[in-house]
Amino acid sequence: MNQHLLSIDDLSRAEAFGILDTAEELSKISDGASKKLPTLRGLTVVNLFFEDSTRTRISFESAAKRLSADVINFSAKGSSVSKGESLKDTAQTLQAMGADAVIIRHPSSGAAQRLADSGWISAAVINAGDGTHEHPTQALLDAYTMRQNFPAYRDSFEGLTVGIVGDILHSRVARSNVLLLKKLGAHVILISPPTLSPVGAKLWDVEISYSLDQVLPRLDVVMALRIQSERMINSYFPTAREYSHQYGVNASRLSKMKPGAIVMHPGPMNRGLEIAADAADALNSVVLQQVANGVLTRMAVLYQLLGGAPLVQGGTK
Ligand code: CP
Repeated sequence: MNQHLLSIDDLSRAEAFGILDTAEELSKISDGASKKLPTLRGLTVVNLFFEDSTRTRISFESAAKRLSADVINFSAKGSSVSKGESLKDTAQTLQAMGADAVIIRHPSSGAAQRLADSGWISAAVINAGDGTHEHPTQALLDAYTMRQNFPAYRDSFEGLTVGIVGDILHSRVARSNVLLLKKLGAHVILISPPTLSPVGAKLWDVEISYSLDQVLPRLDVVMALRIQSERMINSYFPTAREYSHQYGVNASRLSKMKPGAIVMHPGPMNRGLEIAADAADALNSVVLQQVANGVLTRMAVLYQLLGGAPLVQGGTK
């Protein structure tokens, strides 16, 4: 595996399955009497967050602590970034404090790559979401959750159909999921209004649909995405009500899903917009499983990047 995890493209299919296998092994170990493993004792992990986060920041912190690493949490709000301190000076300050891994979330696409390529720091860099570009650990935890719910696809996702519905244009989750799901063999359908479909999406080698109702009966997984109003400078649909009517995951649509199909959402959810409360809280909603799996998957990523002894052999799939 590379020194950094910046994009799903950094992983081979075998390495991606290796992370999922490691997360599974870690789940068995940390389900036992002690949740804490000594693996990363003496190492320091820095959460460097220039953008808000609940799930990703807390789950990386929890993952690092469960592996016995020391954790430093940095949030741009309330830091010297507000006094004009640059990414370089911030990163070097953290490096001087002994960071072995830096987990970065930043509003600019490419920020994680910049940090990794810069030579400013020697720590492993993990992309925790950069602008509209990628969010690789979200895709890994999503794949882990799909594997947990569809054990028949454990060694290959060939035959699994995943619909990603909503604001594809602004979604780093969609980009990382497309890359990973295709690598694992799934069939991916991107569903959105034409205005929220990226111009280049036709080149992603996925199916594109503008009608959720048309494709819904074929989907094993319905992954609703958040409408990212904070990244929108234009109006992309006439009204929230109309968007919800055409693309919202709701009780009526739940009743038209395939038996056994699941509902996913990376969070945070806009209840009543892209997902109705009765769908978010439905029995086949795995939203909270995704959150729990985020800790395990991020433990696996830290474990592999920071040199834990192999728990499982990648490369067989
Ligand atoms: N899914 C996700 O990235 O959530 P947060 O923004 O809360 O980290």
